[in-house]
Amino acid sequence: MTRPDRLTGLLRRPPRDADRPSGYLDLLGPTAEPAPTLAQHAMRSTLLPQIYERVWRPVGFNLAKGWPFGPDTAAEQALAREWLGLAAPGDADKPAATVLDVACGPGNVTRALAAGVSDDGLVVGLDASATMLARAVADTAEPTVEYVRGDAVDLPFRDGVFDAVCCFGALYLFDDPWAAVDSMARVLRPGGQLMILTTRRPRLPVSRLATEAFGRVAGVTMFGDREVTAALRDRGFTRVRHRRFPLMQVTAAQR
Ligand SMILES: C[S@@+](CC[C@H](N)C(=O)[O-])C[C@H]1O[C@@H](n2cnc3c(N)ncnc32)[C@H](O)[C@@H]1O
Repeated sequence: MTRPDRLTGLLRRPPRDADRPSGYLDLLGPTAEPAPTLAQHAMRSTLLPQIYERVWRPVGFNLAKGWPFGPDTAAEQALAREWLGLAAPGDADKPAATVLDVACGPGNVTRALAAGVSDDGLVVGLDASATMLARAVADTAEPTVEYVRGDAVDLPFRDGVFDAVCCFGALYLFDDPWAAVDSMARVLRPGGQLMILTTRRPRLPVSRLATEAFGRVAGVTMFGDREVTAALRDRGFTRVRHRRFPLMQVTAAQR
């Protein structure tokens, strides 16, 4: 079975026309609504996808993770593969896993996950932004990767079809993050691993007020230290692992 056919097999409602003239499967079509927040507006722009992976992501995220003490991009990607049960790039034995990267942007994390699956694996990157996906398609040569334009809050996949689900740098943008977590839990098979990298509300009152004010203006939710871990436990997840950085936190758990 070809990978596009495998992708179609994962969908709840496979489209009649599965053509992908832009290199990704578009399940949203033309959207006329304006971007609801400043941050979402930036994600749909043509400029951000061009500078995201080389400038915005390493500078912004590494600072938020407490550079030079927190994990840099390479260490973060290695942790993602480890906590999601994938292999390291050099390993001889890699799992033929089916993996979902929710809100994949220009495919930076998607490709890092693809380095941890075998040639029989499949890594699906899903995002709502056509400009981000155009960049992802242009930058991805890995044959194990497929891209879909869809909504993270209402994932278009069947129940329990993924071995691992990853959502990095995006939960704080969603209008309903907990509905998105429900959706991620639904598409994950029992025993599968979910991993989320998101914002962290600092404890120091002055930093807390400043980041919350920024969040309100930009449309970015700052999450408390126990909010994501509690959300996963409430949904029946076990083996919860959690690491805190100054303005970010990463959580993984088993369904
Ligand atoms: C900051 S980028 C994260 C990219 C990548 N995951 C990373 O960790 O660098 C956030 C992405 O979330 C996407 N996004 C925001 N809301 C979304 C939604 N409701 N459904 C799907 N994608 C969404 C944006 O289009 C953007 O590409």
